[in-house]
Amino acid sequence: MIRTCSARRPCMAGLLVLLAALLAACTTAGPAPAPAAPAYEPQRGQPGKDVVWVPTPDAVVTRMLDMAGVTAADLVVDLGSGDGKIAIAAARERGARARGLEYNPDLVVLSRQRAQQAGVAARVEFLQADIFKSDFSDASVVTMYLLPGLNLRLRETLLRMKPGTRVVSHSFDMGTWEADERAYLGNAAVFMWTVPAHVAGLWAVHAPRLPGAPLTLRLEQHFQVLAGEADFGPLSAFLMRPRLDGARIAFTLRDTGGALLQFDALAAGDRIAGTVQRAGGRAVPFEARRSGPPGAIGGAQPTAHELRLMGEPI
Ligand SMILES: C[S@@+](CC[C@H](N)C(=O)[O-])C[C@H]1O[C@@H](n2cnc3c(N)ncnc32)[C@H](O)[C@@H]1O
Repeated sequence: MIRTCSARRPCMAGLLVLLAALLAACTTAGPAPAPAAPAYEPQRGQPGKDVVWVPTPDAVVTRMLDMAGVTAADLVVDLGSGDGKIAIAAARERGARARGLEYNPDLVVLSRQRAQQAGVAARVEFLQADIFKSDFSDASVVTMYLLPGLNLRLRETLLRMKPGTRVVSHSFDMGTWEADERAYLGNAAVFMWTVPAHVAGLWAVHAPRLPGAPLTLRLEQHFQVLAGEADFGPLSAFLMRPRLDGARIAFTLRDTGGALLQFDALAAGDRIAGTVQRAGGRAVPFEARRSGPPGAIGGAQPTAHELRLMGEPI
């Protein structure tokens, strides 16, 4: 007897085929895919915690990195990093390590994606953080595009960073802390400061190989602008061509015999060490040690106008 398959009574082979197809459908297709979430697109001028998001133009980013002299040896921290473009450029174009601190979590996720796409994710990190509650003292370069009042609120923190740290700001200055370098690119201003060593105060000088060297130095500084005098017993001579560039301190003095002494040294904490050269002579080592409490950095206290910009009570 020949058994036939009817539509109402499918035969065993047909059932098996159906079952197999069903099984395949279940294992390959699974549940219908959810529609892809639209990619996050930040909008220029969108609100941020303390300042809106507007990206720094590419040419200005390049100029900022140039002015800070960013190299592979640097750790660049961008305060309020937006879509991450400054940190990513520092890593991709200069080989630096970089960190972006950004309050908006969507911008943090976007920045991480862009760092991946740029192939620099291993050298760049983005943290969701408030710049006013973050420790970035390990940076060797700080970049920012904020607001005048926010720059001023950061000024004291920046001044406490390691001497030689470079700070670059797009658009806004730092009040009475004059920039070491400034540039204008179209409508954009760029400012660069080098954090000075704190040398204000009284120093005792030891230069055993230079008879007639001064005994004490009394140094004053207004941010990175250095002044002061040296005592050679009864003679007080004012520093000539004083220069403070990060940790490097240099100045000239005329000694009791009328000869010029050229000092060139590095300051670190309570010690200044380097060389002193009498005109026509050889450079010999000298060292100075603090002999009193550190002096105040002139100008570090905000002026009434600056307090107003910072939104602080005057
Ligand atoms: C003008 S945008 C600059 C973005 C980026 N640095 C650039 O130059 O392209 C300022 C950024 O700071 C962020 N921001 C505002 N207040 C902040 C805060 N307290 N902590 C961290 N980020 C903040 C904003 O969300 C915005 O992305």
